[in-house]
Amino acid sequence: MTDLLDGVRDHYRATGLTERLKAALAALGPEDQRLTVEQLGALDQFHTRGLAATAELGKLAGITAGMSVLDIGAGIGGPARFLAATYGCRVTGVDLSEPFVEAARYLTGRTGQTGRVSFQTASALALPFEEASFDAVLLQHVAMNIADRPLLYRETRRVLKQGGRFATFDVVRGEGAPNGGEPHYPVPWARTPATSFLLTAAATGEAIEAAGFRRLVWRDDTEAAKAWITQLRASGPPPQPNLGTLMGPDFAQLAANLGRNLMEGRLGVLTAVFEAASIR
Ligand SMILES: C[S@@+](CC[C@H](N)C(=O)[O-])C[C@H]1O[C@@H](n2cnc3c(N)ncnc32)[C@H](O)[C@@H]1O
Repeated sequence: MTDLLDGVRDHYRATGLTERLKAALAALGPEDQRLTVEQLGALDQFHTRGLAATAELGKLAGITAGMSVLDIGAGIGGPARFLAATYGCRVTGVDLSEPFVEAARYLTGRTGQTGRVSFQTASALALPFEEASFDAVLLQHVAMNIADRPLLYRETRRVLKQGGRFATFDVVRGEGAPNGGEPHYPVPWARTPATSFLLTAAATGEAIEAAGFRRLVWRDDTEAAKAWITQLRASGPPPQPNLGTLMGPDFAQLAANLGRNLMEGRLGVLTAVFEAASIR
């Protein structure tokens, strides 16, 4: 298990990330100038359809001001900052990658949200929280890095209050694609198949329900993801700074393979929201 997590950590190792971000963000203004969530959108929303997808997921999850929200696999914190800015909720993010957590804290300082949004380095498979600590949990483009799905969803259920919402937005294995849907690598979450653990949408739903959840929203977002890729391809170079600043110079190739896999039906995208049911 540790070996698998080490492989994932290595993929997101992001050497010298905070210093690189400081340099890249100088283009947006001096260090003491507050940044907005929107200004960071091309850099800190590490999933298909960017900020728009986070906005939809927050709405579907029914986030409100009084809630305490957990973002599992929070990356450099873009979704957490967006939810706190939009709804006035408190958000805690956890991520396996220490450089990402350090960068998330730095960026949260730059948006002036340190009081409402915090981050910890931790594994989704051993969440450092008491049971029933949160009103809502988000998981965006993380599950495909996690082999032990039953444990992931049991941990999610454990830290959620009964009746709380679990909103997930993830890449899934395409069904009926060539070679059983095996994707072309590298992709944004894995440079080789060794750290990629895709399930089909149906198998994902079954694993979540088995952990004590009841399905509320179930949406195949593959076509929306394909339309977004087509639009990106047509719109020329991305704004600076962007996800390449985070992941390094090969990010364009990783993103291109994501697009190719979606177009060929090897991958799909699932949005789903569940209610934490009683645990027998
Ligand atoms: C593609 S990024 C998505 C980041 C963020 N959710 C977003 O949408 O902007 C995947 C993230 O999941 C994290 N991750 C992968 N496996 C994890 C695990 N077992 N526990 C915690 N975080 C994990 C990675 O470190 C990475 O930051």
